[in-house]
This record gives sequence, C-alpha cells and structure tokens, in this order.
Amino acid sequence: MTIPPHANTSQYRRALEQAFDLSLDYLEGLPIRPVSRMPTTGEMENALAGALPETGCAPEDAVAEWFARAEGGIVASPGPRFFGFVNGGSTPAAIAGDWLASAIDQNAGMWLASPAAAQTELAVLDWLKELFGLPAEWSGAMTSGATMANMVGLASARQWAGERLGFDPSRDGLSGNPRIPVLSTTEIHASARKVLGTLGLGSSTVTALPAPGGSVSLHDLRSALESLDGPVIVIANAGEVNSGAFDALDRIADLCAMHPGGAWMHVDGAFGLFAAASPRLRHLVNGIERADSVAADGHKWLNVPYDSGFAFVRDRAALRSAFAVDASYLTPAPGAPWDPLTHVPEMSRRFRALAAWCSLRAAGRDGYRDIVERCADNASQFAAWVSANPNLSLVAPAPLNIVCFRVTPAHIDESKHDDLNRRVVAAIQRDGRAFVTGTFWRGHAAIRAAFDNWMTSPEDVGVLESTVADAILSTT
Ligand SMILES: Cc1ncc(COP(=O)(O)O)c(C=O)c1O
Repeated sequence: MTIPPHANTSQYRRALEQAFDLSLDYLEGLPIRPVSRMPTTGEMENALAGALPETGCAPEDAVAEWFARAEGGIVASPGPRFFGFVNGGSTPAAIAGDWLASAIDQNAGMWLASPAAAQTELAVLDWLKELFGLPAEWSGAMTSGATMANMVGLASARQWAGERLGFDPSRDGLSGNPRIPVLSTTEIHASARKVLGTLGLGSSTVTALPAPGGSVSLHDLRSALESLDGPVIVIANAGEVNSGAFDALDRIADLCAMHPGGAWMHVDGAFGLFAAASPRLRHLVNGIERADSVAADGHKWLNVPYDSGFAFVRDRAALRSAFAVDASYLTPAPGAPWDPLTHVPEMSRRFRALAAWCSLRAAGRDGYRDIVERCADNASQFAAWVSANPNLSLVAPAPLNIVCFRVTPAHIDESKHDDLNRRVVAAIQRDGRAFVTGTFWRGHAAIRAAFDNWMTSPEDVGVLESTVADAILSTT
C-alpha cells in the first residue's frame, strides 16, 4: 500500500514543531508583549489578501506564513494585563489538553463516536457541579460558550413551559400556541435576548424589570409574577456584565416557588458562577442550587481556550426533549450512558471537555478557589484605587471581578465627561500596557475592567492603574 503524503508522520512532526515553537514564543512573551495591536483595517486586509494559491507548500511553512502575515492583528488577550470584555486566559494544562483534542480529533457528539470524549464530558460536568455546589443529579452539557449555554437552558425552559401549556415546542413550534412570558431585568445580557430570538420566543418578549444598582427589584418581580397565570420563564443574572452586580438568587427562587402557574428560573452565570468556587465569595450566588438551569463560560474564568462553556439543567426530560434527534444512522451504542448530541444544538462537535478536564485535574478544587480569590483581590485592589482617585468614580460597587468606573474630573464640565471617557478608553487601548473596554451605564459612557485571568498579579494591576492615570493626563 502506498502511503499518501499527508499520512507521512514526519510531516506531522515538522508541522506540530513549528506550531509548538510559535506557540511557546507567544506564551512566554505574553507578560511583556504589548496587549493591544491596533492595525488599520487596510493593514489587516493586505496582510491576508491574495487568491487561493494554485500549488501547496509544506505544512510547517503554511503555519509559519500565517503567523508572519497575521501577527500584527494578534491581541494578547490571554495575557495578564488584558482587562477588556470578560476574556480569561488559558492555563498550561488547558492549552495542552486543547492541542491533544485537535490531534486525536474525536467527534464528541455521540458515545459510539468516542466513548472517551463522551465519558470525559460527563466527568467534567460532575467536577464542575462539585466545584459550584450544584446538585449532582442535574443534567448538562458543554457548549461553545455562555451564549449557547443560555440556549441549552432556555430551550429546556421553553420545552417545560410548552408542555405545561399543552404543546411540544420543539416538535410543534410556537406558532398558534400561547405566548410564553419571560421576566428578566433591564440588565439581561444581550446573548440571552439573542437566544430568545433564535428560539422563537422573541427577543422583545422579555419584560425588562427595573434593576436599580444592577440587581432585580424583588418588589417588581413579585408584582410581575402575580400578574401572570400560567408558566413563566425568569432569567436572573449572577454577575451582570457591566457592573458585576448579582441578582438575589435565593429570593428569586422563593418567588418562583410561590408562582401557582410554575416558574422556570434560569441563571446566566457566565462568569459570576465562579464565585461559588470560593467559600469567601459563595454568598453572592446563594440559592443557585434552587435554579432550574444555569449557564456559564469555560473560556472566561475556567481559563480554558476558546471556545468553551457549560449548561446545567435540573429537568433531564425537558433538556432531552428540547434537543431530541431522530436519525436512523445515529444509533446509540447499547448501554451508553448518554449521547451529547441529544443535549445540545449541534450534532458533531469538538472535544471541548479535554481542555477543561486537564485544567481541572491540574489545578484541583484548591487551584480554582485560588484563581477566583486572586482575581477578586485584584478587582478589589483596583476598585480601591479608583475610589481614592479624585479624577475617578466607581459607577457601581464591585462585588466580584468587574470594576465599572468613570473619569469625572471636577475641573471639566460634566457635559464633556462622556466624550472624555470614550477618549480615555481609546488612549488606554492605544497605549499597549493594559487593555480595558468601554460601555454605557445608566445613560453615560463608562469604563470596565474585568479580572478573570489566572496569571494577573497585583503588579499587573499596578500597571493598569498607571496606564489609566497616564491616559487621563494625556486626554485632559
Ligand atoms: C453575563 C454574560 N452572559 C453571556 C455572555 C456571552 O458569553 P459568550 O460570549 O461566551 O457566549 C457573556 C459574555 O461576556 C456574559 O458576560
């Protein structure tokens, strides 16, 4: 038998060694590399312009060529001084696990396709339930992120509500059937709205209750529930993306339990769920174990590479019906404990659980408690610095890992503060020592810093402080 060129093992070795060298240089350089790369769109277009080459090249040359051409646009977001959005980095064990997942190339959709992948995913879900204090008997699945985890939770909620109303939403659709009300707050995450749109529940169907300070007004939630007869979906935030605020989950669970028509409580805990990993911070998510579904991200605070998320659902049957699959060629293996494709929107999927397994195994429960507490301490250090700075004001308390603030110098007219905040964000992003992103809070431009990278040290927070101070000096 002739061996096709692509099966030549030395080609694997040379290509992977090239990727290894580039990766290691990048990772070792993360602590000192400028955080932001701000190429113009034209520069990026030119870097990657060109028709599909007629002839090929050695795999290692393709890898090296891509890196050389695209490097100007690689953002050091897994590094210790990237505080934008809510990104997180990747632990060494997670990166190694993720590489291995590519090399062994398992299809994690079915037990039969990869018993190793299917069982590893169950093991990871069990470990995560332990880490977060969620009931062991809940079902769940890994997803590409919190958006898809919200999809898994809310599709299960839609299924539950539809069945209570006498129809099967995934089989019959929603058309002609009673509307399923959704209660949340003005601070509902954009991804949950997007999911409600995708699920046909409607992104505008949400009753956005007031959330003074970022957390739902319980008085308004009670009244809204009282005004509804049938089943209701309630979406709560454990960690609101702008202010970092938490809804009072225990109290929401009380109100849901009292609703005669039944209420499904979904918690978006994209990053806030990780408070549960620390005995010191767990109080922020008290009552989460009383929810019906919980969504979170792996690529944020679990510090595993993109993309990774996970959803947990109390009602196994609702989850299974929401994603039921009927295809004669996809016969389950006899006795298989599960087929992930009946728990998620996709069929074939990446073996995401491997990176998470390696990272959880390497760090252990203690390691994750330590990561979460160090990040929370970094956030507190920065929030204290903001509070003590006469040119800055915190726009909300920083209970966990998000610090939201505004530049408010007394000598500049208030009407100019929004513009000033936007210019300060741009100056920080251009500077390259640290990276933050802007937002809008209560109608005004503000600045956010998120702390969820396992490598960030108090010294890095000091660099952030100097970068903010210098950006204010250069813009006022
Ligand atoms: C509270 C919350 N929910 C959902 C998401 C969406 O997560 P992802 O982009 O990983 O899908 C985010 C992202 O920042 C978030 O902060």
